[in-house]
Amino acid sequence: MAVFVTAGVKGGSGRSTIAEHLTVWLARQGKDVLLVDADDQATVSDFTAWREHTLDGNVGYTLVQLLGANLRKQVETMKPKYDHVIIDTGGRDTTSQRAALFVADIALVPVQPRSHDVWTLTKLTKVLGEIQATRSNQLTVHSFLNRADITSADNREAAEALASMANLGFLPHAIKNRKAFPSTGAKGLTVFEAEQPDQKAITELNDLFDSVYNARINSTTEA
Ligand SMILES: Nc1ncnc2c1ncn2[C@@H]1O[C@H](COP(=O)(O)OP(=O)(O)O)[C@@H](O)[C@H]1O
Ligand SMILES: [Mg+2]
Repeated sequence: MAVFVTAGVKGGSGRSTIAEHLTVWLARQGKDVLLVDADDQATVSDFTAWREHTLDGNVGYTLVQLLGANLRKQVETMKPKYDHVIIDTGGRDTTSQRAALFVADIALVPVQPRSHDVWTLTKLTKVLGEIQATRSNQLTVHSFLNRADITSADNREAAEALASMANLGFLPHAIKNRKAFPSTGAKGLTVFEAEQPDQKAITELNDLFDSVYNARINSTTEA
């Protein structure tokens, strides 16, 4: 069982997209997943509403909206009923995001390989440091490039910057900028469910999620 949170202090990096895809990726493996919308912009709630419409109500997971400091206790209460919990947060340092980082086992931090996005990581490492200091156990952090350039060389500088920040747990599994994300997302679907699937997008996500999931399994069996 794991509680995942998508985090970061920059809008548009792909937190909601990653939360939606991880939720559906786990649900498609038969897991009972709770998706928590902890962003007042309610993106994953809107996504789920479109999904209900497209799939005649069979979204495949449970959605709740939770905001503020209470989120922590509410997630603690709800998590025993599910195989996994995914919390999507907004792109700012808020009480909700801090509560989510406090209750989570694993933080996923998508980063666009652009200077304006990379600059925000100093702020994020500070937030993560403050959270780590108040926890009794360690929050596992995995950062990775999202909406990366198709040509790998163009992402190198950002990848190096991310890899140099010790508490951001950089994973070298980039998700590239692919049209399949907005085109499926508009209907409340993931790239796994497209009529004409983009195999490259699917492979990139499988590699990333396998790596995150296997790291989790290894750490919990060792513990
Ligand atoms: N890998 C990707 N390739 C192309 N578009 C993407 C990718 N990831 C996210 N997007 C698009 O970028 C926009 C912002 O993503 P979103 O997940 O809402 O970001 P955040 O939640 O961090 O603000 C959305 O329109 C989404 O469809
Ligand atoms: Mg979002």
